[in-house]
Order: sequence, then structure tokens, then C-alpha cells
Amino acid sequence: MQDSPTRLVLRRPDDWHVHLRDGAMLKAVAPATARVFARAIVMPNLKPPVTTVDQARAYRSRIKEAVPADARFEPLMTAYLTDHLDPSELERGFAEGVFTAAKLYPANATTNSAAGVSDLSRISKVLERMEAIDMPLLIHGEVTDRDVDVFDREAAFIETHLIPLRERYPALRIVLEHITTAQAVDYIRDANLAGDSRLAATITPHHLHLNRNAMFMGGLRSDFYCLPVVKRECHRRALVKAATSGLPCFFLGTDSAPHPRSGKESACGCAGIFNALHALESYAAVFAQEEALDHLQGFASEHGPRFYGLPLNDETITLVKRDQIVPRRLESTPVMPLEDTGLEASEWPVLFHAGETLGWSVNVDGQEETN
Ligand code: DOR
Ligand code: ZN
Repeated sequence: MQDSPTRLVLRRPDDWHVHLRDGAMLKAVAPATARVFARAIVMPNLKPPVTTVDQARAYRSRIKEAVPADARFEPLMTAYLTDHLDPSELERGFAEGVFTAAKLYPANATTNSAAGVSDLSRISKVLERMEAIDMPLLIHGEVTDRDVDVFDREAAFIETHLIPLRERYPALRIVLEHITTAQAVDYIRDANLAGDSRLAATITPHHLHLNRNAMFMGGLRSDFYCLPVVKRECHRRALVKAATSGLPCFFLGTDSAPHPRSGKESACGCAGIFNALHALESYAAVFAQEEALDHLQGFASEHGPRFYGLPLNDETITLVKRDQIVPRRLESTPVMPLEDTGLEASEWPVLFHAGETLGWSVNVDGQEETN
């Protein structure tokens, strides 16, 4: 990596957690991810969820059709675990290179998770098989018990489910997705420092930027509502420290999750933040603030592939220290030609960092400057 105050050349990054949706929304958002990231772990929480090899293969084709023809982008597919998923289907998908991993949503934990797992004991055969074939398990780590405070659900999940799960399946490779608490940071870091390289965590840009005050600043701000919900400032600080630490157990996963304004602003607003358009710049702002830009390449481009056992990308991408104003509302641009997607303007996703100025801009090497 060539480090200077004004330009940063990075190995091309990957996004290890993204929601690309389907249909017109897929066409709208996929180009933003494919422009910057070489690969992305695509979440399977569609309606209906992606539970079979055939569904994943078909979805992968739709994603490839939704990105520009010259995009060098590889979607990595995941299987949505349910109480009834057949371990052989999972193994076949993994062996055929269709499934890269499987995603565990505790039933009703978040958007489109009603078909998720109601009790971990119901998927013991699946977990045994995944451990045996070394297939990564990606976890939405929140308990769904209504008696547990929404801000405590991640910490409770670690104690109640994750610790016993790791004891039961010690060789299972696990990613705790979009961590939000100091408890999660400590748990993952301690395991890593103790020599366990089978446990890792993704960290989103929004959890690095926001604490829970953001959701209530002068009124109720659904733009900043996601799951797991953003936490107190001390937790945000712990996440920033973890992401910028250089430790290989923490890596980039945007959890970019598009919702239209009508979905965000309703009596029961949707959880999710669409950040794909400026994700790398958003991370860069945090690393720059921490004077840790020398650790950005590890976090964005190296720790993830190493965990998944995949090759590092050879291409590069350049971050230029140049202000860019994020529009207040998404606009149709060459990067996201929304006019061509069939999506009504009222359905265009609500944008993260709307109206803010980010100090960095991405130049994709080999592409014309678009910012
Ligand atoms: O905020 C979130 N949005 N968290 C999730 O776990 C799901 C995601 C979505 O699909 O909208
Ligand atoms: Zn997600």
C-alpha cells in the first residue's frame, strides 16, 4: 500500500455482508457495490428466502445481470438456515461452489427473518455437517426474547447461544455479523488473541459512525434505524478501536440494506441503512480520524479473504483525499442509473450520510473518475 496524505492505493476490497435484494431494487443497488468491491457475500433474506442450491444459482445469475457488463464482480452466495433445511442440500451447494456460507437468522430477529431458526437445537445436524465440511456459519447475533432489552440482545446472544455453540462445535468457522457492542469486540478479540482463527466479525460503516443518540436527534430519525440497533458511544468507540486495530478477526461488511422512504417512515419502520454508494469513503473517514489508514487495507481487503480461505484480489482501487458532498436524496447517476431500473423515484433507497461531506473519494483504477 502506498500511503500519502492525499492518495491511498489499496488492494481492491470485498464486502463480506451485503443485501442486494431482488427485482428492480437489485438493479438499482447492485452496481454501487460492484463498482468498488470485487466480491460480496450476499445475504439470503429475500421473500421467499434463498434456501436451495437452485434458488441461489438463479439469484446469482440475476445479480450478474444487474451489474454493468464490464463489472469485475463476483457475488458469493449464502443459504438461509431454517428449522428444516436438509444438511445434504447445504453440502451439495458448498461442494458445487454455489454456497460460500450459511446465514443464521434467529426467527424474527430482523427484516425477512420469520422463516429463520426458532431454536438452535433444531439445526444440530446442519451445524455438525457444516463443521465437518468447514463451511462458514454467519450469525445475526441477537436473542429475540421480548423480555430482553433491545439494546442488550447482542450481549445476551453471546452468553446464551454463541459460547455454548462454540463449545459444542469447536471446529466450526463462525462470523458474528455486524457487531455493535464492546462485549462482542472483547469476545472476538480474546478468542483471536488466544489463537482461535475460526471466529471473526464484520463491522459496518454505520456502526462506526453512529451512536444511539443519532436515532433521537431532535426527533425520531428512522434513517439511522438498523439491526442490531446502534448502541451507546462507549460501544461505538470499542468498534472503532477494533476495526482500526489491524487484528485479522475484524473485517469489512457493510450490511448495506436498502429501504425506500415509505418503508423507513411508517408506524413500523424498517431496519436497515443503504450505505453501498459511499461505503469505502465512509470507512476511510473513520480510519483517517483514528490515524490508522495503514490498517485500512487489512480490514477492507485482506482479513476477509484470509478468513474465508479465498485469494486476495490483485486489482487496486485509489482513495483520493477530496471532498465529496453526499446528496440529500439519491439521484440517478452513471454509477447508479436509477432511471433505468423501473423503480419509481419514491422507491429509491434512503441514503446513508445524506447531506454530509465526506473527505475521501474513490477512483476505481481503470475507470474514469466519476466523483
Ligand atoms: O438493519 C438491518 N437490515 N439489519 C438486518 O439484519 C437486516 C437488514 C435488512 O435486510 O434490511
Ligand atoms: Zn444484514
